[in-house]
Amino acid sequence: MKSKRIENSVFNFLNQSVRHFKEIGSVAPDSSTCINSLVNPIPFDSAELILEYGAGSGAVTGEILKRKEPESTLISFEKNKIFYSRLRKNLKGKNIFIVNEDVFNSRNILLLRFGVQGGSVDCIISTLPWSSLKFEELLMNEILPLLKEGGIFIQYMYTLSVLKGILLRPILKRHFSQIDLDFVFFNIPPALVYTCRTSIKK
Ligand SMILES: C[S@@+](CC[C@H](N)C(=O)[O-])C[C@H]1O[C@@H](n2cnc3c(N)ncnc32)[C@H](O)[C@@H]1O
Repeated sequence: MKSKRIENSVFNFLNQSVRHFKEIGSVAPDSSTCINSLVNPIPFDSAELILEYGAGSGAVTGEILKRKEPESTLISFEKNKIFYSRLRKNLKGKNIFIVNEDVFNSRNILLLRFGVQGGSVDCIISTLPWSSLKFEELLMNEILPLLKEGGIFIQYMYTLSVLKGILLRPILKRHFSQIDLDFVFFNIPPALVYTCRTSIKK
């Protein structure tokens, strides 16, 4: 039963990927090794508000749901309507909200729908295909204003992008005071996971 569900999810992902490759940016949901590498840096014991950008099949979302404290809130953004409907159907839990909106409008949506102010998010985890987006604009207009002082931003990139010479680190370095890197070989394709921290003003 579980393997049938995974098969459906992979098929569904591939199907959407063929139709909207630029927006999805990958052919398969993230592997469990990649999910762990993405989710491990989230400070679950202290985080009150976690955002996810690009929930896709819900593989990362499901793991956050398993690990988060019941009182902490997870708000996941997913623009693709098919993925969104599946996420709404499959993911249930306390304090989890799936939002069918573009992340470039996330600050506005968070304020209007949830009363979330800037500077109040503990962690933003993103599996967006950063190289096909105006990523630095997203960082400056949405991600950085939303994060608390000392807040965490997690983003991955595929090694294929490195081969093409498309690099994420220099962009992140311009905006974050601390950046840690993890290499995930067991993923299609292998990935680099960046964990970045905003500075704490004294
Ligand atoms: C690589 S996939 C996510 C993979 C996901 N972690 C998984 O394992 O299934 C990237 C996702 O970001 C979504 N996305 C891309 N651009 C977006 C945007 N501007 N706003 C919201 N979601 C977006 C895509 O629809 C896609 O589902």
